Amino acid sequence: MCGIVGFVGRQEAAPILLDGLSRLEYRGYDSAGVAVVSPRREIQIKKSKGRLQVLSDLIHGGKDMEGTIGIGHTRWATHGAPNDVNAHPHMSEGGKFAVIHNGIIENYVEIKEFLIKQGVHFKSETDSEVVAQLLEFYYNECHDFFEAVGRVLRRIEGAYALGMLCADCPDRIIAARKDAPLLLGYGDGENFIASDVTAIIKHTREVAYMEDGEVAILTTDGIEVFDALQQPVKKERHHIDWEVSAAEKGGYPHFMLKEIFEQPEALRRAISPRLKGGKVVFDDMKLTVEQIKAFQRIFIVACGSSYHVGMLGKYTLEHLTRRSVEVALASEFRYCDPIVDMNTLVIVISQSGETLDTMAALREAKARGAYILSIVNVVGSSIARESDDVIYTWAGPEIAVATTKAYSTQLAVLDMVALAFGEALGAVDAKEYEEAVTELEKLPGKMETVLEHCEDIQMFAAQHFNHNSIFFIGRNLDYALGLEGSLKLKEISYIHSEAYASGELKHGTISLIEEGTLVVALGTYGALFDKAMSNVVEVKARGADVLALTTESHRDEMAKTVSTVLTIPDTAPMLLPSLGVVPLQLFAYYVALQRGCDIDKPRNLAKSVTVE
Ligand code: F6R
Repeated sequence: MCGIVGFVGRQEAAPILLDGLSRLEYRGYDSAGVAVVSPRREIQIKKSKGRLQVLSDLIHGGKDMEGTIGIGHTRWATHGAPNDVNAHPHMSEGGKFAVIHNGIIENYVEIKEFLIKQGVHFKSETDSEVVAQLLEFYYNECHDFFEAVGRVLRRIEGAYALGMLCADCPDRIIAARKDAPLLLGYGDGENFIASDVTAIIKHTREVAYMEDGEVAILTTDGIEVFDALQQPVKKERHHIDWEVSAAEKGGYPHFMLKEIFEQPEALRRAISPRLKGGKVVFDDMKLTVEQIKAFQRIFIVACGSSYHVGMLGKYTLEHLTRRSVEVALASEFRYCDPIVDMNTLVIVISQSGETLDTMAALREAKARGAYILSIVNVVGSSIARESDDVIYTWAGPEIAVATTKAYSTQLAVLDMVALAFGEALGAVDAKEYEEAVTELEKLPGKMETVLEHCEDIQMFAAQHFNHNSIFFIGRNLDYALGLEGSLKLKEISYIHSEAYASGELKHGTISLIEEGTLVVALGTYGALFDKAMSNVVEVKARGADVLALTTESHRDEMAKTVSTVLTIPDTAPMLLPSLGVVPLQLFAYYVALQRGCDIDKPRNLAKSVTVE
């Protein structure tokens, strides 16, 4: 969602802030701004609606803003329209404070009314401005920046990652966090805050993640952190070991295409260290066999594509463990009075580890006593930190808004969890386990084979990018796979698309199939191939144009009915969607490319959804 970066050091701040913000663009934003304290102890603020380039042009790449300490922000509107005034940073009326804020101040109306009664004039429609105005109000009482921050934090309710500047204390940034991501970067004679490590990795790889309730004071000399009771906290530092290039396009026209092609490598990272002597071994999982046996209920909770991974995981977990598994949308779970207690395992899946709905579901489950096992990509993210157990997907930074490599690695990890649980419970068939482990080892290589055929998909996309509506059909694993294929297509190409369990067509949807309707028929799951074929025949009989996806061993059979058949290598049934998703990602990508869409930053979407 919104992005935060802050810098204090000896270099000019504005160009560093602009560069940091450019690395946060992928999160989605509608306006951007920076604030820099000048050598004359004045806070200068520049902000503008639209692309970061507009802001950069406005301040000539930062040259117009002299000063070595500053904060920058990319905003994704929640309270108040996306415009110059509502963009951050917000300045207090007397010009003493500048504030950037991610999250939502829930009691801002009440605070705003209070301040207006005190004679304060507000400029914006945002909830965030109250923080700047309240800071100045308290500062005028206590004349102490840190103390004023403390008073503000005790007064505001809601979620926040805050970066704050005070004209009277031009050597420091104060940062605070509650329920919104914020990290500290330790440099040499310079220090940083950021909502995301990509914003500062060019300058430092030493970071610490702020916890809820913590406040940090950053100067050129160091960073001091305090807890909610203003007691000093010793932060654990983490070394970020991925390369800066991992967050750059590396010759690809779009991050999404780069990330699609990075999937085999990402899978190797996620799978290889966890296969030992023909077994799935999670050194990073704390759960014991006794605990696994004691769970009476298993939930999988997630949003969007991560939820689709959960749907696939349900099939596999139930099959391998013979335990019933419920999959829930995080945004629904928290409000459905779920039957969760201390004998429940909740598996939480999230790429970013910051999705607010998922986080809220996690907290709801935790409050009811559940054990939380999360599958997360972003190391040190909020979900990772609040879980009892975390398995990282090690996909590397995912920049494109539409997830690809995070999805694939989540799926591989969940498949491995299912195998490990199946074994722990003594429920999995030994031959099936062995085959799955062998095929997991081969999965990255097989995915490379699928990627080699990307031109076939590009050609097909070139013929079909003009459809108004596209249907995905499949059964069982192929149905859950179709949901992901359909989501990829609609989010980046803006084509209306639906995914259906093929057996449901005749209960209503088939009425929408007419001459020329494009149907992507998924028939990779061998056990139900004949059923899939009969659905293909049904839609063809109504005039549909069919693109079929199946395995190499079923190609000839499918080709008897369908002229365009894409294939994936045969593998263990539970791993078929891991290969099947690749042609669907590529199809969405090439269709969006033909339609001239902004592939990496689709309209209305953000990478990390930190609002409800
Ligand atoms: C779709 C997509 C989203 C995310 C969803 C959850 O391409 O990326 O549907 O999967 O917003 O995000 P995470 O996994 O970060 O919790």
